[in-house]
Amino acid sequence: MTCILGLETSCDETAAAVVRDGRHVLSNVVAAQHKLHERYRGVVPEIASRAHLQNINPVVHEALDQAGVSLHDLDAIAVGHRPGLIGSLLVGVSAAKTLAWASNKPLIGVDHVRAHLHAATLTPKMVSDTVLSDSSEHSGGGPLTFPALGLVVSGGHTSLYAMNSPTDLTLIGSTIDDAVGEAYDKAAVILNVGYPGGPKLDKLAQTGNPKSHDLPRSMLGKDSLDFSFSGLKTAVLYTVRGHPKGRGAAARFQRSVEDLTEQQITDIASSFQAAAVDAVIKKLKRAVQHMTDQDQPPRSLVIGGGVSANSLLRTRVAELGKQLDLAVRIPAFAYCLDNAAMIAGLAHTHYQSDDFADLDLPAIASGSI
Ligand code: KG4
Ligand code: ZN
Repeated sequence: MTCILGLETSCDETAAAVVRDGRHVLSNVVAAQHKLHERYRGVVPEIASRAHLQNINPVVHEALDQAGVSLHDLDAIAVGHRPGLIGSLLVGVSAAKTLAWASNKPLIGVDHVRAHLHAATLTPKMVSDTVLSDSSEHSGGGPLTFPALGLVVSGGHTSLYAMNSPTDLTLIGSTIDDAVGEAYDKAAVILNVGYPGGPKLDKLAQTGNPKSHDLPRSMLGKDSLDFSFSGLKTAVLYTVRGHPKGRGAAARFQRSVEDLTEQQITDIASSFQAAAVDAVIKKLKRAVQHMTDQDQPPRSLVIGGGVSANSLLRTRVAELGKQLDLAVRIPAFAYCLDNAAMIAGLAHTHYQSDDFADLDLPAIASGSI
């Protein structure tokens, strides 16, 4: 039995979790900072790092307490050390190094994006995690079957991976401009639906008419596995405010979002959601075909990252799995957004192959696979 403490501070969530054998979540504590960033309608890096400094010790204590273990009982300390906001990453990395040094336990550096693809294999133990997970399509954890097609949809990534194991991944497609979560956040600002934008927009979209506006689904080249969401974002802007006169800072729009009725805003949100999810599903189909053409037909489809909490994406991915006869893995809600259970979980694979880090483990802002 292996018990690993994971830390995650790559963006604006301070998180710590204890996971047994890479899968069984004994605790999963997340201190979100939404209130601090709300007035700026986006994450302010300096504020995020400062809040991590305040939160990290209480969050680690809480994770150990809830799991009923002490530092002494752990087999390793793991930390998400890339990619992310550098000031934020440094807090988690420094804390993990200190804990590893003080307790004489091995240190493990985990890639945040790969960890998102591990989230769907976790088994919730916490009552709160279970309540948050939806029973309809969540697979309930368990190992993946390989080859697998992996999709990470978050605020920083929209990436497709051909996977031969949890750590043997090939990037086969990614966004050429905005990530899908970023597009949600920007559209939420344009539609003035509140913060955090992604979940608010998702909720609103569920009550609108997705066919009210024909917004673009950018496919790029005929065989392209890459994504583009900047055209969709601009289409939302023009739908809300009309085509501008002039360019850049001199652009003058015909109206503002305040001129729209609630129903109009809801219908645009719904049409945006339909277009964004449609684009992702179309690329997933292409990626399955691509892997099949490469003599590596996927046996399962796994998604992860904040946008995997999206109601429409979850339903459409589950439908796609049925349609293509693929085992589908969708994380429980508690493991979609940034969390440390996915870090501690994937760290188990590193632990099994003696892949440990030294105390000079760097925090790396970009450069995930
Ligand atoms: O994985 P994550 O917590 O952080 C990154 O690694 O980026 O993902 C955050 C992103 C944000 O852009 C957020 O708006 C989006 O995930 N998000 C959603 C939903 N919940 C979170 N987007 C659409 N629908 C949701 N329900
Ligand atoms: Zn993330």
